[in-house]
Amino acid sequence: MKVLVIGSGGREHALVWKLAQSDLCEKVYVAPGNAGTADEPKAENVELDVEDIDGLLDFAKNNDIDLTIVGPEAPLVLGLVDLFEKNNLLCLGPKRLAAQMEGSKIFMKDVLKKGNIPTATYEVFSDAERAREFLKKCDIPIVLKANGLAGGKGVIVAFSREEALEGLNSLMVEQKLGSAGDNLVIEEFLKGEEASFIVLCDGENVLPLASSQDHKQRDDNDMGPNTGGMGAYSPTPLITEELNEEIMREIILPTLDELKRRGIDYKGFLYAGLMINEQKIKVLEYNCRFGDPETQPILMRMKSDFLDLCLKAAEQELKGEQIEWDDRFALGVVMASKGYPEKYEIGFPISGINEENEAIKIFHCGTKKEADKILSNGGRVLCVTGLGSDLNSAFEKVYEAISKISWNGAFYRKDIGKRNQ
Ligand code: AMP
Ligand code: GLY
Repeated sequence: MKVLVIGSGGREHALVWKLAQSDLCEKVYVAPGNAGTADEPKAENVELDVEDIDGLLDFAKNNDIDLTIVGPEAPLVLGLVDLFEKNNLLCLGPKRLAAQMEGSKIFMKDVLKKGNIPTATYEVFSDAERAREFLKKCDIPIVLKANGLAGGKGVIVAFSREEALEGLNSLMVEQKLGSAGDNLVIEEFLKGEEASFIVLCDGENVLPLASSQDHKQRDDNDMGPNTGGMGAYSPTPLITEELNEEIMREIILPTLDELKRRGIDYKGFLYAGLMINEQKIKVLEYNCRFGDPETQPILMRMKSDFLDLCLKAAEQELKGEQIEWDDRFALGVVMASKGYPEKYEIGFPISGINEENEAIKIFHCGTKKEADKILSNGGRVLCVTGLGSDLNSAFEKVYEAISKISWNGAFYRKDIGKRNQ
């Protein structure tokens, strides 16, 4: 089979690496990919932007692509899957309306409310003055969320009234995120520990993937600004087998039922961001895709044929399928460019990235190849991922590999996986 993977991050490198291991796989094209995907066996990068959905369609048609797998949310929200399916091309991902689970916080919260799915209480605002009046009286902390896609920058957790009012100003009045901030969800602050729960859906059937936990803040001890994710591990001891069943029963299945009631058959990866504390589990957010960096440790543990699973999901044939997992723990640590998630420089040569083995894989995020050098080319640059018999052993192996890697301005968190210890 010929496969097309859309995207260029660490998630896509992991997808390509795992797909290429399948005997079913003849070739994986990656649009646009990175230096890591370019070097994988069977893989080839294609210079097309993830949002150029017409260009991607032409490429898929002209190259006899059998299956397209979409990594990031933007092309899904733009309707890439609708376009490909209209042209009789097999594609794994939700259609435009289903991708609203990530593309519109208002849509997502309404699905949760109508489906009786536990989540933070909230109100919707389209008028800055009304929102200001609300914020003057509400409980603090409070959470402001831009309705539209904002590349991870649309959520403000305000710990003081001043911060809340400033946040409102920047989102709704100054429109720092453009039209994404035209409407706001303002919601109750939830306490607890976050976990990621990702499932694979075929429009009818659903398979839970292994549990995982991300570290969203930039600095050690969960300090500093929110990022796309600085490291993740799988499984998380937070999600026991009983909790796994509860999440499927109380959250995932009712969400898919509520979508079905609205005429939406969800196909592709669905990612629930959960807040868990002793008493209860609540949904913080839904994403319409696989997580980044969660994909890296999760796929490192997958023993099943990933391409076969993706194909079955795209063809609505997941019924009865099971996924086999490596019993070991996997941990991925993101190495980033100084200044990330704000301003950072790129173009520095990276050294020490060739030491991989059965238990260590260095996934590339923002990298590019020039002559025979690998250069940094983004905020998140690498995700060093390792397997160990327990979290500590995975931790030791990953940080040992990291100690050999360097470039000008590289930084990383030193405490990935240490939250529960
Ligand atoms: P989101 O993009 O909705 O996942 O939000 C980004 C991050 O903001 C989450 O991973 C949480 O750390 C935090 N967050 C979002 N909503 C809430 C909430 N209601 N209470 C506390 N923290 C939240
Ligand atoms: N790791 C967070 C995300 O993929 O949104």
